[in-house]
Amino acid sequence: MKINKSLTLTKPDDWHVHLRSGEMLAKVLRDTATSFNRAIVMPNLSPPIRTTYDAVSYQREIKAALNKDSDFTPLMTSYLTDETDPDDLIAGFKRGVFTAAKLYPAGATTNSDSGVTNTLLLDPVFSAMSNAGMPLLIHGEVVDHKIDIFDREHKFIELVLEPLRNRHKNLKIVFEHITTKSAVDYVRSSSPDKLAATITPHHLSVNRSDLFAGGIRPHLYCLPIPKREEHRIALVDAACSGDKRFFLGTDSAPHLIEEKESSCGCAGVYNSPNALLTYIAIFEQNNALDKLNSFASLNGPEFYNLKPNNKEIEFVKRSSPMSFDDLQVGSSRVKTFVPPFPLFWSAK
Ligand code: DOR
Ligand code: ZN
Repeated sequence: MKINKSLTLTKPDDWHVHLRSGEMLAKVLRDTATSFNRAIVMPNLSPPIRTTYDAVSYQREIKAALNKDSDFTPLMTSYLTDETDPDDLIAGFKRGVFTAAKLYPAGATTNSDSGVTNTLLLDPVFSAMSNAGMPLLIHGEVVDHKIDIFDREHKFIELVLEPLRNRHKNLKIVFEHITTKSAVDYVRSSSPDKLAATITPHHLSVNRSDLFAGGIRPHLYCLPIPKREEHRIALVDAACSGDKRFFLGTDSAPHLIEEKESSCGCAGVYNSPNALLTYIAIFEQNNALDKLNSFASLNGPEFYNLKPNNKEIEFVKRSSPMSFDDLQVGSSRVKTFVPPFPLFWSAK
C-alpha cells in the first residue's frame, strides 16, 4: 500500500451488505460494485433466501442488474430458519452457490421473523456446516425485550454465542457488525481461524448520543444500535490494530425515506456510496492508514479461505470535502449516511 496525498489499496470486498431486490437492487448495486470486488449478500429479503434454489435465482437477479463490464461477484448466503435442511445447505455450499449461512435470531431485526427461535434446534445444521468448513454469520443480539436494547449484544455472547461455540468448537463464525467492547474482547480472546468480526463505517463513526443530537436522527438508527463512546473507541482500536480477526463489512442497508422518517422507523443505514471514504477517514484520524489494507482487503479473504483481489483502487486527498446526494428510487429516496466529520478522500 502506498500512502502520500494518494492512497492505493488492494481492491476491497464488502463482507456484509444488503442489496435488496427489484428496483432498489438496481439502484444500490452500482455503489457496491464500484467500491468492492466481491460482497457477502445478506439473505433477509421478503421472503428470505433460504434454499440453494432461492440463492441461484437471487444471484442471477443481481448479476443481471450489473453493468455489462462489471466483474463484481455477489457471494450468496442462506437465511437459517428452524426448518433449514442441512443437506440442501451443504450441497449448495459444495456447489459454490452459498459462501456462508446467516443466523438471525427470530425478531432481532429487519425481516428476521422467519429466523431461528432457538439455536439448539439447529445443532445438526451447525455440525454439518462445521464438517464442511462452511462459515456461520451471526446477528449477535438476544431478542428478549426485557433485556435493555443497549445490552442485547453483550448478553448474546454469554447466553448464546459462547454455549454455541462450546458445542461446535470447529465451526467458523463471523460475529457480524459488532458494536461493543465486550464483543471486541471476546473476538480477541479466540482463535483467528474460528472467530472473526465485521465492523461497519457507521459504528466506527457514531455513538448513541449522535442518534439524539439536537433531535431524533432516524437515518442513524440501525441494529445493533450504536452504543456509548467507550464502545465506539474499542471498535476503532480493533479495526485500526491490523488484527486479522477484524475486517470490513458495511452493513449498508437501504430503506426508503418514508420507512425511516416514520412513527416506527426501520433499522438500517445506507452507506455504500461513502463507506470506503469513511473507513479511510477513521484510519487517518487514528494514524493507522498503514493498517487499512489489512482490514479492508486482506483479513476478510483470509478468513473465508479466498485469495485477495489482484486489482487495486486508488484514492486522492482533496482540499474540499466530498458531498453525497440521496439516491432516487422510484418516486422516493434513500438517504446516504453522513458521518459527523468531513470526508476529504475520494476514489481516483
Ligand atoms: O440496521 C439493520 N438493518 N440491521 C440489520 O441487522 C438488518 C438491516 C436491514 O436489513 O435493514
Ligand atoms: Zn446486516
